[in-house]
Amino acid sequence: MLREALPEIVTGVVPGPKSKALLERKEKALPAALGKAVYPVCIAKGEGAMLEDLDGNRFLDWIGGVGVLNIGYSRPEVVEAVKEQADKYFHTIINVITHEGYVELAEKLNSIVPVRGEEKKTYFANSGAEADENAIKIARAYTKRSNVICFSGAFHGRTNLTMALTAKKAYSVDMGPFPSGIYRAEYPYLYRAPKGYTEEEAVTYYIDKLYRLFDEASPAKDIACMIIEPLQGEGGFIPAPISWVKAVRKICDENGILMIADEVQSGFCRTGKMFASDYWAEAGIQPDIITMAKSLGGGVPVSGICARAEIMDAALPGTIGGTYCGNPLACASALKVIEIYEKENLADRSMEIGRKVRAAYKEFALKYPVIGDIRGLGGMIGMEFVKDKETKEPFPEFVSAMVRNAVQRGLLIENAGTYGNVIRFLAPLVMTDEQLAAGLAIFEECLKVTTKQLCK
Ligand SMILES: Cc1ncc(COP(=O)(O)O)c(C=O)c1O
Repeated sequence: MLREALPEIVTGVVPGPKSKALLERKEKALPAALGKAVYPVCIAKGEGAMLEDLDGNRFLDWIGGVGVLNIGYSRPEVVEAVKEQADKYFHTIINVITHEGYVELAEKLNSIVPVRGEEKKTYFANSGAEADENAIKIARAYTKRSNVICFSGAFHGRTNLTMALTAKKAYSVDMGPFPSGIYRAEYPYLYRAPKGYTEEEAVTYYIDKLYRLFDEASPAKDIACMIIEPLQGEGGFIPAPISWVKAVRKICDENGILMIADEVQSGFCRTGKMFASDYWAEAGIQPDIITMAKSLGGGVPVSGICARAEIMDAALPGTIGGTYCGNPLACASALKVIEIYEKENLADRSMEIGRKVRAAYKEFALKYPVIGDIRGLGGMIGMEFVKDKETKEPFPEFVSAMVRNAVQRGLLIENAGTYGNVIRFLAPLVMTDEQLAAGLAIFEECLKVTTKQLCK
């Protein structure tokens, strides 16, 4: 069965003939920005952490739809739940006709999402970007203020507003003009903090910079919200230190600013807790709004925005919602997916996988000097590559070669980071121990081969 299988390349080289033919059709039929394949992989079927391509090659997928597949591919109970819903009806628009799945999913999330407040409310959108955009709308409606603080390294999506919030400008070349009122502060990237700083000194440095923004960019009284990824994803798998989060919470409270946690990539057991913000909650900090997407629906598009009722009810009728938001098939999937996270305790499994991966990565770091940093929470781990450990000069070419070498051996890994020099670990949490061991063996072989190719 594919679910328990190990990686295997049967065509010698990837892509095999059938995948190659589809990739050629893709290049002709799709815009160049999407048509040119980085990964020469065309899926025939997926189960658990594995996918089989059109030519029968089997890949271990450590990208998992970029964080969508914490539950893995084609979980039978989820497939069943979606089929059962499909037999009844595919669609209603919640602004017109109420369906129970929407209400039940909102109730479920209200009971588990660690936002501040007793009475909570949730509504749905279709993508992570839409969730973030909605969170900003809600924050503006509640505070009656217009400005927003986002952070260096942030990724919040590709709508016009979220392109403006996203730090890396490669994601928005030629796409302006962008909305005004967006101000960027520095995210606490400890590995690249000023040389010689302790963590405490670095946190003070980043908080001072945040204060500077009130003097030089926008007075605090005009700021509606700050949007923060508790563990930056695209930015390079960088966890925000709890002491920094605490200081930011204090600044928000003192100035009537709402704190939004973007858990689009970090949510749903990925970090070893249901939400990365659960780590904040343990330290007595709670965001005002949490956005989520990706592993909420387990592959059926749905995203959510959750906050206390007082904030949510500030948006006037007509200002939020949309045709497909909270689609019945997506809600049926999400309800079953969350049930499985809880029943099978996938947060603990994420911790266990994370411990094993970290231990192996630390061993690798002793042998391969290109590994500059290993960081993360639970099963969300990044490895940063540098040309020189002293200068920390990024080594993106090494990461690109690792990705190419791994594909040819049946392992899918992806880059991250402002400089593209981080490899992210986002494997489905249902991966077997044998698959994890096989993946780590391929990873090390790729380190060896890539070192030979690129390091003289
Ligand atoms: C933290 C974060 N926010 C928002 C988004 C945007 O989500 P989507 O691609 O579903 O619009 C992403 C996507 O990677 C993300 O990682």
